Amino acid sequence: MEIQSQVLKQDRQGLNSVFKKDAALIEKIETELCNELSDSKGPIREMCNHILNSGGKRLRPLLVLYSGMLFSDPCEKLIKAAAAAELIHMASLVHDDVIDNSMLRRNHPSVNCIWGNNFSVLCGDYLFAKAFGILSRYRLIRSMDFMVEAIQNMCHGEILQAEDRFCQEIDTNTYYDRIAKKTAIFLSCCCKSGACVGGGNSVEIDIMGEYGLNIGLAFQIIDDVLDFCGNPDIMGKPKQEDLSQGNITIPVIFLLTSEKYGSWMREIVRRRDFSEHVLNQVYCALLESGAIDDCMKLAESHIEKAKQCLKYLPDSPHKELLYELADALKTRKS
Ligand code: IPE
Ligand code: IPE
Ligand code: MG
Ligand code: MG
Repeated sequence: MEIQSQVLKQDRQGLNSVFKKDAALIEKIETELCNELSDSKGPIREMCNHILNSGGKRLRPLLVLYSGMLFSDPCEKLIKAAAAAELIHMASLVHDDVIDNSMLRRNHPSVNCIWGNNFSVLCGDYLFAKAFGILSRYRLIRSMDFMVEAIQNMCHGEILQAEDRFCQEIDTNTYYDRIAKKTAIFLSCCCKSGACVGGGNSVEIDIMGEYGLNIGLAFQIIDDVLDFCGNPDIMGKPKQEDLSQGNITIPVIFLLTSEKYGSWMREIVRRRDFSEHVLNQVYCALLESGAIDDCMKLAESHIEKAKQCLKYLPDSPHKELLYELADALKTRKS
């Protein structure tokens, strides 16, 4: 079977509406990803094909591209750095689904669901190696440094999350530390990688890093809200898995610290009783207590901070897209 990508055929909505404007750019990334994975063989080829055909928003490569295009045209190196970022993201998702024992990803069975954990670990490693192959071949040394920083933090973030499973004492600071490491630093590093390849100076690279960090924090907070409130068919991944797996996210932290629901919620976490009935009760409590609204306010505060960062950068059409991308996060459904 030919390695090909379905991303361009996806129905684009919410966050994806920002990307629709740049179909030609997405096409370049897709071509790059397909080419890069086309020499893989055997089961690795099948797994890569499966991943490419499962879609995804391509948020990270677009952050690389838009950040670079603040300062230059989309040169070959920028496209390569963008493709490397998506390969690293794909690798992290393959590993994350092993860790979370998740069977659905991007509306398709996860790699671990089809090929099992052993092959999935190797597939993730293969994708990481592919990414670093690109960065090395095109001498994208600074981008390589940024991606190393991102992956190291991601590993720490996943470990922090595993260590804190079912912990009732998690506070907002602990949660922030975890999501920064797990998700936001990667988005920050994508922006820094792009700005650097595009020719931004060190101050501009730092500003884009700050933009990406805040986008990343908002992105993960909303992801954690969607785990309770989203539509799994649109998200393409299972719903209400975080709590039952012991991953105490910000909506639950707000309940744990609420006067009305605190002791009730602590008892649920202590008993690890996550029947459908209990999860429904938690969902109702999240809405009734205002916890979901508070999470969205928190996410919006990061979106505003991200937009503030852009003020200090030269005006360009891609700066406008970065503003739009930030705003589109508020209504993201997938
Ligand atoms: C999923 O990222 C992992 C998180 C950090 C929440 P995305 O929501 O960007 O996943 P895809 O690439 O669109 O599948
Ligand atoms: C994903 O975290 C972050 C990664 C490092 C891949 P989650 O476990 O919350 O992401 P989903 O919900 O599986 O996409
Ligand atoms: Mg997961
Ligand atoms: Mg996870």
